[in-house]
Amino acid sequence: MSSPAIPRVRVLFEEAAIAQRNEEMARAIANQPLKDLLVVAVLKGSFMFAADLIRALHRAGLAPQVEFIHLSSYRSATVSSGQVAILRDVESEVRGRDVLLIDDILESGRTLVYAKDLLMARGARRVLTTVLLEKPGKRAVSIDADYVGFVCPDVFVVGYGMDIAHAFRQLPFVGLVDYGADEPDLFDRDGPPAL
Ligand code: IMP
Ligand code: MG
Repeated sequence: MSSPAIPRVRVLFEEAAIAQRNEEMARAIANQPLKDLLVVAVLKGSFMFAADLIRALHRAGLAPQVEFIHLSSYRSATVSSGQVAILRDVESEVRGRDVLLIDDILESGRTLVYAKDLLMARGARRVLTTVLLEKPGKRAVSIDADYVGFVCPDVFVVGYGMDIAHAFRQLPFVGLVDYGADEPDLFDRDGPPAL
C-alpha cells in the first residue's frame, strides 16, 4: 500500500530562530513593571507559540496566570472575512490587571484590535500585545503589536500552530506549502525573503 503524498513545506522561520526570538521577547516583556499579569493566548493558531513563549516568560522570571480566548476571523478559507467572532471566552476577571495578548499573526489587525478592545472594555489596566509574525502592508485597522517575533512576507504561512484547514499545525517551524512552479520566488536568493 502506498502512503499518501506529504506536501513539501519550505522553511521560512526555523525552529532554532523562533526559540531564540522567544527568549528575547520574553526578556523584553519581563523587563518592565507588570501588575497581576494575565496572559491570554488567542486560539487556535497561537497555541504553540504561546506554549513556548509562556515557558520563556517563566525562565525570564515571570509567573503569569494563563488563559485562552478562541476567536475566529478566518473560518476555513485563506482570506479574512473581516468579521471577528468569540468562539470561547476568557473565564478570568481582567479588571485592574495587566494583560499580555498572544496571537500568531498580525495581518489586517482586526483580531488583535477586537481582543484588545474587549479586554480594555472589561477594565484591564493595560493590554500588551505580542505576535509571532507581522505581515506589513495588510493593516485594515490601526494597531501595532508591542512585541513582534518576525516580519513575514505577504504569503500564507503554516506550521508552529498555524494551519490550512487544520493541517500543518504540528510543524515545529513556520513555512510555506510548496505548490510547485506557480509560487513567487521568495527563497531562491541571498538575504531575507522579499516583502
Ligand atoms: P487579522 O485579524 O487580519 O490580523 O488576522 C490575523 C489572523 O489571521 C491570525 O490570528 C491568523 O489566525 C490568521 N492568519 C493570517 N495570515 C495567516 C497565514 O498566513 N497563515 C495562517 N493563518 C493566518
Ligand atoms: Mg488566529
